[in-house]
Amino acid sequence: MTNLVVYDSVYGNTKLIAQNIAKSISAKSININDLKNSDLGNLNLLVIGSPTYGGQATPKIRQFVKDLSKEFLINTKIAVFDTRFLERDLNFALKLLVKTIGYAAPKIAKLLADKGAKIIAPPEGFIVKGKEGPLGPEELVRAQKWFKNI
Ligand SMILES: Cc1cc2nc3c(=O)[nH]c(=O)nc-3n(C[C@H](O)[C@H](O)[C@H](O)COP(=O)(O)O)c2cc1C
Repeated sequence: MTNLVVYDSVYGNTKLIAQNIAKSISAKSININDLKNSDLGNLNLLVIGSPTYGGQATPKIRQFVKDLSKEFLINTKIAVFDTRFLERDLNFALKLLVKTIGYAAPKIAKLLADKGAKIIAPPEGFIVKGKEGPLGPEELVRAQKWFKNI
């Protein structure tokens, strides 16, 4: 049984978080574009990561999650994270917008939970300081520690 981190990433920030989470749980991290069906065989834990775009996960991550079978979900532990802006860093209008439309990870986690998945951790968000990054100063360390706190 192995652990796997699957992520999507446009500017590389979600990839960096995925790599650091993977390191902490002795997992491989794989870009969704490179994922093969065989990578999902015999998994103990699947971690799914996406940037938040317009309050949602990327279309590829959403499709991937929709395609996961009930049988797979019954047998595999799941955790979900996203990357996102920190509301405090935004101007009033953007803050309101971002707050209203929400974030990728909670939506993906809800979709999975509704399909019967065993979600083993509250969905987590990691902060980017701008749309292309960089990550907030503590985020790589937080990524490495995330599973130590579960
Ligand atoms: C078109 C666009 C829409 C975005 N929408 C949101 C959003 O709704 N909420 C949020 O917190 N961040 C939003 N962001 C910031 C992204 O979450 C950030 O660019 C992403 O975490 C970077 O991840 P990546 O480097 O892995 O691509 C948006 C960025 C872009 C370019």
